[in-house]
Amino acid sequence: MPTDFDAILARRRSVRAFTQDPVDRPTLERLCQAARRAPSGANLQPGKFHVLTGAPLATLSSRLVAANARGTPADLEYSYFPEKMAPALKDRQRKAGFALYESLGIARRDVAGRRAQFAKNYRFFDAPVGVIVTIDRDMGKGCFMDLGMAIMTFLLAAENVGLGATGIGAIANYGSIVHDHLGLPDDELVVCGIAIGMADENAPVNQFRTERLPLDAFTTFAGFD
Ligand SMILES: Cc1cc2nc3c(=O)[nH]c(=O)nc-3n(C[C@H](O)[C@H](O)[C@H](O)COP(=O)(O)O)c2cc1C
Repeated sequence: MPTDFDAILARRRSVRAFTQDPVDRPTLERLCQAARRAPSGANLQPGKFHVLTGAPLATLSSRLVAANARGTPADLEYSYFPEKMAPALKDRQRKAGFALYESLGIARRDVAGRRAQFAKNYRFFDAPVGVIVTIDRDMGKGCFMDLGMAIMTFLLAAENVGLGATGIGAIANYGSIVHDHLGLPDDELVVCGIAIGMADENAPVNQFRTERLPLDAFTTFAGFD
């Protein structure tokens, strides 16, 4: 029997175009509280969510957009992807990228078009709300996993209240700007951003769906016969 949860999970996808409807603070607090319901090793509850709208978001966006436009080298503070991407992973990355660019009519060789789309990461895709997710720099890999669960819970809770969102790893390329803008202490590491708001359901970029691996490609089962 399909459940509400199944429906929410099936509906959720990364939203990269938004209406300008504001999202109120109580709703965002509810989503952050939902995120904190995620389990974590020893209940350490790692990570923080810094929620921005209005001028604080606009100023941060313009600083990030300017850095990207100037070609400022990334000051990545942690590695997101493996240094050497195996061909199977490259293939998945390409497929997701092509689906995104195809939805926008950006040809595979249209470098300027792709750059322009990439730059939108730094405008939080013009969402009314942007979230900066951080973690204590000393935390281990397990704590990053815990924070990932909190982020997923946030994304599903957003879907549950009719909001769309996307993670923005690209924000971590300019962690020092985010640090400066939010006045973060040195021990806080910028993990990613999240854009959130009402999905613009008519925007072409919100029409495609990414693929997933078949069950047997990522699972093994034993002892069931
Ligand atoms: C932590 C995180 C960071 C992400 N960073 C970006 C990003 O910088 N730019 C972007 O367009 N999408 C980003 N995404 C969205 C992924 O590309 C997307 O989740 C993936 O292709 C699967 O598609 P779906 O979310 O529509 O199911 C990010 C997703 C997550 C969870």
